[in-house]
Amino acid sequence: MSTTSNTSKTSGGTVRVLVVGATGQQGSAVVEALKEKRLKNRYNEKIEIYAVSRDVNSKKSEELRAQDVKMVEGDISKVESFAKILENIKPDRIFFVTTPYIKGGSVSKEQQDGFAVVDAITKYCKTNTGNKPYVVFSSVGDAERLKDIPHFGSKFEIEKYLKKNSQNNTLYDYYVIRPVFFMDNFKNFSRPAYGKFSGLLQPDTKMKMISTYDIGRAVATCMENPKDYKDGILELAADDKTMNEAAIIFSRVWNTNVQYKRIPWFQMFLVNIFVHEIAYMTRRLEEAQYCEEAMLASKKLNLNLLTLKEWTKREFKTNDDFYKKKSNTWLYSVIGITLIGGLGYYYYYYKK
Ligand SMILES: NC(=O)c1ccc[n+]([C@@H]2O[C@H](COP(=O)([O-])OP(=O)(O)OC[C@H]3O[C@@H](n4cnc5c(N)ncnc54)[C@H](OP(=O)(O)O)[C@@H]3O)[C@@H](O)[C@H]2O)c1
Repeated sequence: MSTTSNTSKTSGGTVRVLVVGATGQQGSAVVEALKEKRLKNRYNEKIEIYAVSRDVNSKKSEELRAQDVKMVEGDISKVESFAKILENIKPDRIFFVTTPYIKGGSVSKEQQDGFAVVDAITKYCKTNTGNKPYVVFSSVGDAERLKDIPHFGSKFEIEKYLKKNSQNNTLYDYYVIRPVFFMDNFKNFSRPAYGKFSGLLQPDTKMKMISTYDIGRAVATCMENPKDYKDGILELAADDKTMNEAAIIFSRVWNTNVQYKRIPWFQMFLVNIFVHEIAYMTRRLEEAQYCEEAMLASKKLNLNLLTLKEWTKREFKTNDDFYKKKSNTWLYSVIGITLIGGLGYYYYYYKK
């Protein structure tokens, strides 16, 4: 990793990297990729990896510690204490990700957290003028064009704040990556079970995709070559598939029969009521020609990013993997029927 910033370290020095979100999907992939770079990197530098977590005793934190990652207890929403963490570590590189999808989280909290990270970095840089870290923020594909989607808008605001506070790159250098739909969603909420998987998207909507594995590799590549990835934005995508095409890929790779079904109308109805933002995002992604240029832009990284087929081979080990986990469909159905029944009961007895 060439050090553009704090102190003029020469090749063979030590680079300290601080990862926010290392216990999560993207951050852990960043750590994985940095571990690879630890074995071999362009500038033959020693890489020390630090990770901030609110719980340094969690299972995931323990696992990271076992991989020679230095765990630091901290909360990014607290500017003063996070600035102190920076002061102690004096990182050359910082990766951060924000999310509304945590306990007590919301889109406005996500934005506050992102601003707090930037404020802490700014404070640290102002009091340590010799140190100029390189900061990578993971936003979301098409954050600006689709900023009307609340959790895209919050990330776009963080991007702007990161840029503004860099004071034309005098305080710190920065780069924004904008990943699209995670292939890993097929191992989480859209995981095939009993040969079927479901989701909100229409079966024939094209969707740009990237694996978190490649998000990690992309971030590590930027951190190794910060001069090439400076004060800009990279939309990050590796494949473009519909859900039906994904089903065909899963089926062919493991010689089985996997099918996609859009969730039924009553579940869609519930999503619209209870997680309206997600339903709105789905509608926008369906009409918006999502991240048209992303696959081309990502070639800049010179990495062989995994296609969905390659990712499937890597992540699903046998065709049993598409069958074993229990589908949540029954659960959603029970919730749906209970709610509709409850509403019907309420109107019948109290509103008539
Ligand atoms: N799924 C998709 O297709 C997709 C596509 C593009 C973008 N995104 C975006 O990706 C983001 C989620 O990324 P992810 O999946 O990597 O997240 P994740 O797996 O849910 O992990 C969240 C991480 O954030 C850390 N964190 C949260 N609040 C913190 C705080 N106050 N202080 C310190 N650390 C904190 C957590 O650490 P501790 O719990 O250990 O403290 C955890 O490591 C979302 O914003 C989403 O919109 C998702």
